[in-house]
Amino acid sequence: MEALFMQIQSFCIVILMALGIYVNKRRKLHVKIMSLAMIWDVALILQIELSRSAILKASKAMDNGLALNIHVSIAISTVVFYCFMLYTGRAVLSGKNAFRKRHRALGYTTFLLRILTFVTSFWAVAPKG
Ligand code: HEM
Repeated sequence: MEALFMQIQSFCIVILMALGIYVNKRRKLHVKIMSLAMIWDVALILQIELSRSAILKASKAMDNGLALNIHVSIAISTVVFYCFMLYTGRAVLSGKNAFRKRHRALGYTTFLLRILTFVTSFWAVAPKG
């Protein structure tokens, strides 16, 4: 039940990010939507971290260790990419057009990673239900 609530939030973040990319020409709206998506995502990670300690205490099973590790690694990479997005996005806003191509390539990579985070979250929770 708890995992479902987290995954619903995770799905909403993916949708929000897709919307933010769709409106990228409306810069102010793009920045607002992407900022919200990134803040929400970090808040989601905190929620999971805080509740996982409880889950771990309850079940000492480590049968899905590899799947969980892959999922966590992708999720952490996504947050690292958020930092690149902030940096390159701010550069584009300040008029440095050379950063635009980089922001675009990093943007699609970040979005792909975020989708993978969502998809792999099913492996991480599925074995235990
Ligand atoms: C996860 C976060 C983000 C993603 C995935 C993302 C993705 C994108 C993509 C795909 C584009 C289109 C680039 C193109 O086709 O040329 C774009 C444009 C842009 N983004 Fe982001 N972005 C993110 C966050 C940010 C942030 C935090 C800022 C500012 C602080 C920002 C500022 C901009 C600007 C100024 C443009 C150019 C819009 C234009 O062409 O007029 N982005 N972004």
